[in-house]
Amino acid sequence: MIKKIHHVALVVPEMEEGKKFWTEILGLMVGREEHVADQEVDVAFMPVGESDIELLNPLSDVSGVAKFLQKRGPGIHHVCLEVDDIEAMLAHLKKAGVPLIDEEPRIGAGGHRVAFIHPKGTGGVLVELLE
Ligand code: CO
Repeated sequence: MIKKIHHVALVVPEMEEGKKFWTEILGLMVGREEHVADQEVDVAFMPVGESDIELLNPLSDVSGVAKFLQKRGPGIHHVCLEVDDIEAMLAHLKKAGVPLIDEEPRIGAGGHRVAFIHPKGTGGVLVELLE
């Protein structure tokens, strides 16, 4: 079962510059910030009600996020849906023939178990599942 939109992730070429619209103009507060080492990205979460805007800033040219930025420019990177049982959801998607980037959950930002669904299966949107 899907519980809510957990976050919408945006790629920014520079973190402090990327925060400005959201904080200085819209008045959002920056909450948790962390460095995700295996992806070589810095992330910053800005709570909006029960969900967050997540800014992603690639720190090297090698990560998937960096390649996304080079190819498509700044903007929406993925939508993250919180689910109550990530294994059950992945099994459901496999059964339905939806292509997955992660066949098994892995540990993402915040120590949550996450898995990405391939945009080919979702109408062009990268979707993250999080438990
Ligand atoms: Co995410």
